[in-house]
Amino acid sequence: MTWSHTDNDWPTHGLSFGADYNPEQWDKEVWKEDVRLMKQAGVNLVSLGIFSWGLVEVADGEFDWDWMDEIVGLLADSGIAIDLATPTAAPPGWLLAAHPEIYPVDHDMQPHWPGARLGWCPSSPVFRAYALRIARALAERYGHRDHVVMWHVSNELGGGNGRCYCDTSAAAFRRWLQGEYETLDALNEAWGTAFWGHTYRDFAHIIPPRGNDSKNPSLVLDFDRFSSDELLAHYLAEREVLKSVTPELPVTTNFMVGAEPDVVDYPRWAPHMDIVANDHYTRSSDPLPEQDVAFSGDRMRAMTTQRRPWLLMEHSTSAVNWQPRNRAKAPGELIRNSLSHVGHGSDGVLFFQWRASRAGAEQFHSAMVPHAGEDTQLYRDVCTLGRHLRRLAPVMGSRTSQARVGILFDDEAGWAMTKGVKPNNHLAYGRLVRDWHHAFWRLNESIEVLPPWSDFTGYEVLVVPGLFLTDDDTATRVSAFAEAGGTVVVSFLSGIVDEHDRVRLGGYPGAFRDLLGAWCEEFRPLQEGETFTLDNGWSGAEWTELVRAGDAEVIARYSGGHLSGRPAITSRSLEGGGRAVYVSAGLDSDALLALTRSLVRPTGVANVPSGVEVLVRRNDEETFTFFVNHAGDDAVVTARGREMLTDEPVGGALHIPAGEVRVVRSGAVS
Ligand code: GLA
Repeated sequence: MTWSHTDNDWPTHGLSFGADYNPEQWDKEVWKEDVRLMKQAGVNLVSLGIFSWGLVEVADGEFDWDWMDEIVGLLADSGIAIDLATPTAAPPGWLLAAHPEIYPVDHDMQPHWPGARLGWCPSSPVFRAYALRIARALAERYGHRDHVVMWHVSNELGGGNGRCYCDTSAAAFRRWLQGEYETLDALNEAWGTAFWGHTYRDFAHIIPPRGNDSKNPSLVLDFDRFSSDELLAHYLAEREVLKSVTPELPVTTNFMVGAEPDVVDYPRWAPHMDIVANDHYTRSSDPLPEQDVAFSGDRMRAMTTQRRPWLLMEHSTSAVNWQPRNRAKAPGELIRNSLSHVGHGSDGVLFFQWRASRAGAEQFHSAMVPHAGEDTQLYRDVCTLGRHLRRLAPVMGSRTSQARVGILFDDEAGWAMTKGVKPNNHLAYGRLVRDWHHAFWRLNESIEVLPPWSDFTGYEVLVVPGLFLTDDDTATRVSAFAEAGGTVVVSFLSGIVDEHDRVRLGGYPGAFRDLLGAWCEEFRPLQEGETFTLDNGWSGAEWTELVRAGDAEVIARYSGGHLSGRPAITSRSLEGGGRAVYVSAGLDSDALLALTRSLVRPTGVANVPSGVEVLVRRNDEETFTFFVNHAGDDAVVTARGREMLTDEPVGGALHIPAGEVRVVRSGAVS
């Protein structure tokens, strides 16, 4: 079988299905069994070699390729494509022993001792040189094999070395700051260093935010930005080497896009990926794992240009091993989650990992082949999923359609809001955003969770939740969106500081005060257990404010308590038909649902039974509608076309069994 790939295009061999494959953990007899089971399950892509640096480069500059030649050959003979990894997430013991200066160092100046992963400082020139050498060696040896179809740079960059505080990093940070600010005067002004008399007289006096005490938040924010840029620079250096040998092969690295601010700024990394790839794991403690899948999918949809497909590089078949109590997936959840990711735009489904490890730190993590082997429900589900994905092959390359609701999410805003001392230190940025997402998700609205510098064209509603840090450009474009007829909803703790983390004066939320008409004199965060009620019956907790309605209309006022009669939610109508709503209080989920319902026009999807999520992908000729039934009861929806998993015509009523997914393919898009 030949795999084709053209300039920066994803290899066209159907939706990808497979896993991280770590054959180095097993005897060669097991490899043959692996290939038999992969073919049986329909696996067509594996990520190989992610952690095998020390097994290939056995000593400095000394390579043992035999085992890798053999497995690369075996996979080629079996028609299984390879997403070949540069193994730089796991530096070999000989390198760490010879160069302990590459260990990353935490904020307490404790080195990250060998024994885990990503044990290297992103700014270390020594590490970079060794990393690029192994990347080149791999590219030259395997990059031109037909079935090596893409590059997987390192693994989850930043997961272990996201912030390094060592002296090498400190020097790199100073260089980065000089590049950003040019002069110390500019830096002192931006950071407000006159506070505590911290004015810098020399760049050499600046050190990263080491220690545990409260540092200048502007310094901390710039260190976060620098750290993201340093890791991106590492990715780009590896990418350049790979492209110099195999310019035609797509290059990516696996993101960890989830519900909280990311360890690095992924939306700013995404343009450097030939295909954007994500690892997503639900949490046992999450009461709504299915919404978490949707949330990450809605972030991923906005991570590509023009809604191109992305790739789910890792998720789990069942339990993970790194949470306090690792929940096994419920019957049907593996397939339902997988197809939900596809509905959100992933052109495949990959897992960590192919075969459950016998030893090592992840020996109790689920896999496509569990410890119990082939005769298990889990492996049978894997095979069923493989069949589904083969039937869904025509979906490949189609794009998700324009969402009606855009929700702004920004890593920098999240870092700024959650670090340092704040009026309510128990508010999690990700949860604020996810609460809004939850409300629109319950309404079955199409949603994209997008960075603030995106083009807002095409949305009907733009939500700005807790966008603590807002630059002038974002404020201007959000206002322009409302002036052009859109509905903007701004929640509390948005637009509070500028891009340097300095408070915008004159009343909160400074960046949006003119747009909203209303403004806040003083924050009134609530104590744990305290709640509030509004005069329309809505309630909430955690956050209130002393708000002045200005020229906005009051939608709801406090009822009782010392804010009684004061505005909590306001709305200002704009001449072009748009409006700007300010939600200054921490509404609970029922109130948020009622509010969001009043903000969107009803659509046909509103008639879909509750618990059925509808996701749409399109190409030039066809529409693929995914119906994901999260409910415990069977559901019936109205649809026309051909159901792809059962290959049955649908001429009206479509039955979706409880917990299952159906995908309807229909003709030319009107
Ligand atoms: C991450 C890593 C994998 C593995 C899984 C376990 O996604 O990339 O190597 O450790 O977590 O869930």
